[in-house]
Amino acid sequence: MAYRRIASLKTVDEFRDYLSQLDLDLPVDNEPLSRQQQSPLAQSLQVGDFLVGNRWAVHPMEGWDGSREGKPSGHTFRRWNNFGESGCKLIWGGEAVAVSSEGRANPNQLMINSENEKSLAELLDVLKQAHIKEFGANSCDDLFVGLQLTHSGRYCRPNDKAKLEPRIAYHHPLLDERIGLTPDDDSALLSDVELEQLIEKYIQAAQIASRIGFQFVDIKHCHGYLGHELLSGFTRPGKYGGDFNGRTRFLREICEGIHTACPNLQLGVRLSLFDLLPFQPAGIDEKTGRPGIGEPMTYSGKDYAGFGCNRNSPLQIDLREPIRLLELMRDELGITLVNLSAGSPYYNPHIQRPAYFPPSDGYQPPEDPLVGCVRQIQAVAEIKKAVPGLAMVGTAYTYFQEYLPHVAQAVLRRGDVDFVGIGRLLLSQWQLPAQVLRGENYKAKKKICRTFSDCTTGPRNGLISGCFPLDDYYKKMPEFQQLKEIKSANRK
Ligand SMILES: Cc1cc2nc3c(=O)[nH]c(=O)nc-3n(C[C@H](O)[C@H](O)[C@H](O)COP(=O)(O)O)c2cc1C
Ligand code: SF4
Repeated sequence: MAYRRIASLKTVDEFRDYLSQLDLDLPVDNEPLSRQQQSPLAQSLQVGDFLVGNRWAVHPMEGWDGSREGKPSGHTFRRWNNFGESGCKLIWGGEAVAVSSEGRANPNQLMINSENEKSLAELLDVLKQAHIKEFGANSCDDLFVGLQLTHSGRYCRPNDKAKLEPRIAYHHPLLDERIGLTPDDDSALLSDVELEQLIEKYIQAAQIASRIGFQFVDIKHCHGYLGHELLSGFTRPGKYGGDFNGRTRFLREICEGIHTACPNLQLGVRLSLFDLLPFQPAGIDEKTGRPGIGEPMTYSGKDYAGFGCNRNSPLQIDLREPIRLLELMRDELGITLVNLSAGSPYYNPHIQRPAYFPPSDGYQPPEDPLVGCVRQIQAVAEIKKAVPGLAMVGTAYTYFQEYLPHVAQAVLRRGDVDFVGIGRLLLSQWQLPAQVLRGENYKAKKKICRTFSDCTTGPRNGLISGCFPLDDYYKKMPEFQQLKEIKSANRK
């Protein structure tokens, strides 16, 4: 593969040169600034009635490691502890927590209900205690923590890690086949009555989250899960589909219900801002035995079902509807913050989480992963101009690796985003934001995520997730060996 690895770009200038070779327009600062040097990342920001202490955010990341009852395990507690130690003042969601047992993405996903209230409260407490231990007695005064609420829709696996039990919003012309659904099988379709019951579950979940002490909840609308899928339900009949009003009704009714039940709880939405066609590997690479380069699935019909893409040319972004939705969120739904992502890890992972090395069910990147990062950053910049007054978290910064702080602070300074959200890099080196703000050498320990994708390959093969290659905690586990065997078997 001709793409340069970031680790081979030894200076900021080399990094900048490579960006221009790729024809990418991205601001990059010469060096990371500390808090003392007035880093833009160290500035606070008012979100609703809360002053958030800095501009670093932890993205939600689940570990496929809860109990069958949906309670956190020791691994989950450790992850949240690390989020607390990161120095980020915005904790976006922690991880996806299912509002109903049938809506879990795996049998070990966390679940929110009255039986689990105490253990979820302990999880929040662990995060806050870690923050206090690291940053001092009053450090939680400007720490903003929310919980991500989800229903996995098309990607539900509530009982058996290997068995999909999809609940879909509508029949999709390409995605149905990928999960073994035939166009005439309506058994997986969620009825309007089921959606109404689910809306109640979201409202109940928000009440529990508020009681526990979460300051906001995220009504997840990204990555191909149910909320996101409803936004492209152009062909769905009835009140939750069809026109813009119908496709956003699910979100509107949840927001209205939560505002009535919990007037002090802030509302956020994680949104896949744009979606493009599903991709698949072009065969198997003969030399390496690995899946080939990703190519888009062909779609010959008209009016492709995708949110935020040109429906007649679905490899192109069209932000008109996302802008309308974000205006609705800001002006009518009382949503104060959004976390902007893109695509889905199931059918176009290079769009959603750009990586040099694909997960076991993925494909070799069809573009330099930097192209995917810049695509997301530029889309957020456009949205930021179009919909001012809504706090926005950006995504897909991990792949910048050692240059992440240089890019993050430059993008922030330009006003193209409000918070820089970090995912994978915080699994391998969760202390990075705090190190940067203190002016420390964040490269010294060689823990920077190189996007090996083991944290995705693990769960795709029924294992827990975690940074197996770089986090000693996971390296010592038998699962690490199992993962190696799975990867080498996949190569044969
Ligand atoms: C192991 C793992 C678990 C994830 N879990 C969630 C999740 O629970 N909810 C969510 O919205 N996104 C989830 N994501 C996506 C991340 O939040 C993030 O969008 C993605 O990793 C891209 O950001 P990055 O480039 O900084 O890693 C997960 C990603 C990984 C790697
Ligand atoms: S396993 Fe570790 S190095 Fe690999 S992508 Fe995940 S966090 Fe990064």
